[in-house]
Amino acid sequence: MFSLDERLSLCASFVREGAALADIGTDHGYLPIWLLINKKIKYAVAADVRKGPLGRAKMNTERYGLTNKVKIVLSDGLDSIKAEEADDIVMAGMGGELMAKLIDRAEWLRDPNKNLILQPMTRAEVLREYLCKAGFVIKEEKACISCGKTYSVMLVSYDGIIRPCPIKYKYVGILDSDRSAEAKRYIYAVNEKLKKKLNGYEYGTEEYNSVESLISELTEMT
Ligand SMILES: C[S@@+](CC[C@H](N)C(=O)[O-])C[C@H]1O[C@@H](n2cnc3c(N)ncnc32)[C@H](O)[C@@H]1O
Repeated sequence: MFSLDERLSLCASFVREGAALADIGTDHGYLPIWLLINKKIKYAVAADVRKGPLGRAKMNTERYGLTNKVKIVLSDGLDSIKAEEADDIVMAGMGGELMAKLIDRAEWLRDPNKNLILQPMTRAEVLREYLCKAGFVIKEEKACISCGKTYSVMLVSYDGIIRPCPIKYKYVGILDSDRSAEAKRYIYAVNEKLKKKLNGYEYGTEEYNSVESLISELTEMT
């Protein structure tokens, strides 16, 4: 039996007991397989847009004797997945911008009973901004460190309320209220990126000033 790394373990911890899971961009299929073996979920759809990764997921489900509990689906995002097939939807290891596009296309995610578990590899700020605009709320967010890198995992659902997205929320979500070492490290890494980004803005503009003041605020927190 294999174990999940810190990043996928954190995603797994947000999945509800007994849920039907859709893992979008499943690749090897480790997340649904691990959750099934550990009896946390009853059923999973393992979806990927590419045949190569899906073949890996299929091989792994066969290896662990789970072919009757995992549906392997070739799907661009959630396009080929039905609402009744999933309570909890994981998207991990993809870019935040892509995740926002995939969520936007899946009308059936606009249901407060569905939980989205999102772990963006890049552009988390684009994803958080989209969530605010589209009526999704981050209910929980945690950070982890895996292979020396920091990641954020968000538990999100739809409540239909369009929220403003202040710059701090865009970049660190709700991790500013988390005093764990992992959250501090995530905020530190975001801040280092912002410091580099600041050079790309024209000095004294509104954009420059807001990024500069966020950098000062985040520096005090870490
Ligand atoms: C880096 S892997 C992440 C695998 C796993 N979720 C993880 O976090 O370890 C990203 C996977 O997303 C898949 N992917 C990329 N775009 C996708 C899309 N539009 N719909 C479904 N899967 C997609 C890729 O084929 C790839 O297998």
